[in-house]
Amino acid sequence: MCGIFGYIGNKKEAANIVLEGLKTLEYRGYDSWGIAVVNEKFNKAEISIKKKAGKIGNATIKELPQSNIALGHTRWATHGSATDINAHPHFDCSKNIAVIHNGIVENYLDLKSKLGEINHKYISETDTEVIVHLIEDNLKQFPFREAVFKTFKNLLGRNAIIALSANDKSLVVAKNGSPIVLGLGRSENYISSDAAALIPYTKKIIFLEDEQLAEITKDDIEIYSLLTGKQVKPKITILDWKLKEAQKGPYQHFLLKEIMEQDDGIKQAVSQNVDDINTLSRLIKRSFGSYFVGCGTAGHACRAASYIFSIIAKRHINFCVGSEFSYFEDFLTDKSLLIAVSQSGETADILEAVGAARRHKSKIVSLVNVIGSSLSRVSDLVIPLRVGPEKSVLSTKAFTGKLALFYLIAYTLAGKYEEGKKQIMSTGDALSLLLSDNKFIENIKMIADRIYQMQDIYIIGRGISYPIALEAAHKIKEASYIHAEGFAGGEPKHCEISLISEGTPCIVFVPNDETKTAIISNAMELKSRGGMIIGISPTKELVFDEWIEVPDMGITSSIIEVIPVQLLAYYLALRRGNDPDKPRNLAKSVTVK
Ligand code: G6P
Repeated sequence: MCGIFGYIGNKKEAANIVLEGLKTLEYRGYDSWGIAVVNEKFNKAEISIKKKAGKIGNATIKELPQSNIALGHTRWATHGSATDINAHPHFDCSKNIAVIHNGIVENYLDLKSKLGEINHKYISETDTEVIVHLIEDNLKQFPFREAVFKTFKNLLGRNAIIALSANDKSLVVAKNGSPIVLGLGRSENYISSDAAALIPYTKKIIFLEDEQLAEITKDDIEIYSLLTGKQVKPKITILDWKLKEAQKGPYQHFLLKEIMEQDDGIKQAVSQNVDDINTLSRLIKRSFGSYFVGCGTAGHACRAASYIFSIIAKRHINFCVGSEFSYFEDFLTDKSLLIAVSQSGETADILEAVGAARRHKSKIVSLVNVIGSSLSRVSDLVIPLRVGPEKSVLSTKAFTGKLALFYLIAYTLAGKYEEGKKQIMSTGDALSLLLSDNKFIENIKMIADRIYQMQDIYIIGRGISYPIALEAAHKIKEASYIHAEGFAGGEPKHCEISLISEGTPCIVFVPNDETKTAIISNAMELKSRGGMIIGISPTKELVFDEWIEVPDMGITSSIIEVIPVQLLAYYLALRRGNDPDKPRNLAKSVTVK
């Protein structure tokens, strides 16, 4: 939540470098953006800021002077609405210090009253502003780095900040909870909320740990523990991501690119170190209660896992959404297993769940896409998703990657690793054919044209297709802002059937499995009340008004089923004039509780 980026080095176009960095980080929030640079005038240095509400779009920063130090922020509003004034960076009273912030200062009202409103002038409604005034106060007694150190120690909550002082030619960054990656260049260094934004500049990076602070000059990075105050030796990681992976290439939007990459994505997801997969399946077997925990799309994937493990491995696993997990904390013991599932590895609710598991000495395994993320660093075992950087706020390839991995683990648990891998690989091949079939795509565009002005869409599936229906509704809502709801096929007759009227679009998943007869009956019930039935199925059924044909991949059909709805969501977004990569009010990485 919120993207932060900093540059210090030889180049004079620091503001431009930061602007480009912010564009890459905009998926983290796009309520406003802002950049601060140090402006050296004769013997005096001062800070110039440009900040604006709204997305960066084609913003220019011509007003900002040439400088070799800059920091910038893209905001997902928590405290204070999305206005120019609430946009970061924020100044202290003297305007010699600027701060950008990711997180929530839980005790900001306390700190504000301790600091005394009389001595400090607050301009915004944000929690962030108190940080910069605290630094200003601490600067009366301490040099800049120590002033930031003392300030950060007083903040409660999951936070990351970068502070810039006009007089000190350094950036000071500190973190506890929110992610920070440092990029090492030649006579220049970078700070970013994620590693992907650094790919154009450097592959040499340092993941700043929680409770660490770094002082960054163009030639040096010094890291200190916020717990002991002592300097610590940084661990340098070399990224093996390619620039191409993080760019749109020929596609108009990341969402479409990422949907189209899923054939390869699921194959990559199961091309894992077999020892890790064996270890995880052993851990599940030995555990006294395993809990799959995820949020949003990852939560739907976890629900799907409960079906996959039941069908393939005959094993009961628990699933829970991240934000609810701590309420089950009392069931955890040192024999429990938490499987934390997350694309970003930064979702605060997941990290809270990990905290609960730690308290009870349970084992923690993470399935995570972003290597080096907070989640991957607090887990006993990390299984990387390997689907490549996912940039659209709408999660697609991470979802199918997770499903593929769950299938592989369940097959391994059943003693059929090879069979499982073969099954996923052939599902990937079938997906390649499907995604390159023009008729398939045109059919979905036509359906989008037919339903884009509707107010509600209902989606049903049974068995494993039930969580797919939930995920399908999730995608449609995020992209199109049309109200969509997913249900277990047998449920609408208990309630939502009362909402169906003439022409209400109802998407129905009809795989060739044990759910087929019952789900067709459920579709008939909706059709009898006027529902317009859009069937996603390998075979055409009488009940369908529109049919989206998908290949029958047997037990792994759920991976394929979700694809047409991802595409439908994309074309609905376009038809309604929405930005498919940046839906309103949402952010890709939710680092607040
Ligand atoms: C946000 C995103 C969703 C995502 C969820 C969990 O809400 O908008 O697309 O599913 O976070 O993210 P994670 O990175 O933990 O998978």
